[in-house]
Amino acid sequence: MIHITRRELFCAAHMLRNENWDDKKNLEVFGKCSNPNWHGHNFELFITVKGEVNPLTGFVINLKELSNLIEKKVIQKIDHKNINLDVDFMAGKMASTEVLAIAIWEQLEAGVLELGGILHCVKLQETENNFVEYYG
Ligand code: NI
Repeated sequence: MIHITRRELFCAAHMLRNENWDDKKNLEVFGKCSNPNWHGHNFELFITVKGEVNPLTGFVINLKELSNLIEKKVIQKIDHKNINLDVDFMAGKMASTEVLAIAIWEQLEAGVLELGGILHCVKLQETENNFVEYYG
């Protein structure tokens, strides 16, 4: 079993708010991410796939095909978009890095399997100092 990781980049806007709370409470809990006029991040996405090396190719998964899958299922839907308003797979969800990483997993899991690999980890880096990892 070996692991391989593809990195992709996207920029997106979001806001973290609980509509049942007032501005003060939202600011307390979500800090600057509660700004009602939005803000953006330059996200780094790391998709790790595991599997056995195919003796015919030497690959676990064809990285070009993996990149195309991530592009189609995630990047085209989210890059330069508003995560709260524009992204179908985030509709009705909190636009946190944790929730986004889980949603990206759900977008990719079946497609990775079709390409012959097993999705192992979605790592999503929101800022230099903050990232999440989801293992399913
Ligand atoms: Ni933020």
